[in-house]
Amino acid sequence: MSDSQTNLQAPVLTIDGPGGAGKGTISRLVAERLGWHLLDSGALYRLTALAAGKHDVSLDDEASLAEVARHLEVMFVAEGGTTRVMLEGSDATTTIRTEQVGDAASRVAALPGVREALLSRQRDFRQPPGLVADGRDMGTVVFTDAPLKIFLTASAEERAHRRQAQLREAGVGASLSSLLKEIQARDARDMQRSVAPLKPAEDAITLDTTRLTIPEVVDRLTELLTQRGLLPDA
Ligand code: C5P
Repeated sequence: MSDSQTNLQAPVLTIDGPGGAGKGTISRLVAERLGWHLLDSGALYRLTALAAGKHDVSLDDEASLAEVARHLEVMFVAEGGTTRVMLEGSDATTTIRTEQVGDAASRVAALPGVREALLSRQRDFRQPPGLVADGRDMGTVVFTDAPLKIFLTASAEERAHRRQAQLREAGVGASLSSLLKEIQARDARDMQRSVAPLKPAEDAITLDTTRLTIPEVVDRLTELLTQRGLLPDA
């Protein structure tokens, strides 16, 4: 039941950038601090890739993949600080985080039909009191009128380290050198694709997190939101 008038007024903080820059963690923490909704757009591409595998749809078949994306049966269930992701009634929280699904996601994400199919689903997340939108094209395509756009980066080596720690926590083992290679390949694919390539929006603020702690980044974003008048005065 989206009231488009209200949605137009709900502020959006877009957080784009390459994989492993800290977008997921930072977006969740900022959304929690603000009491805003959270859109993990990468999860939608990962779920599309996973659903395609389940239904034997080839990663080259754009029309069928777009159908899979359009009819994705997905639920995000908030549960004690984390979000459980359900695909067609089954828990896909851990499965979608594997490098294999990430790689397939970046392939399906390069297809215009798939991106188009996921557009309105992403915009539906824009509800009061506000939305933190995490992805690659949140500021450049999906929420072009967002009042604050951030581009989070970090060196590829640092991102490979972070991804390894993240996977380890989820009980998945992976070597640093293979993670670095995958990250570089995924960066190249995300930046070179013809539709919605990964790049900062013209009006985005770029934040390099290589040498910043998570609380430092969250504080910086809160400061920026306050400066833009997007938070009530404390
Ligand atoms: O952010 P995450 O690693 O979960 O995203 C998985 C893949 O989905 C990315 O490598 C990227 O190709 C794609 N993606 C995208 N646009 C978004 C979010 C993710 O193309 N807004």
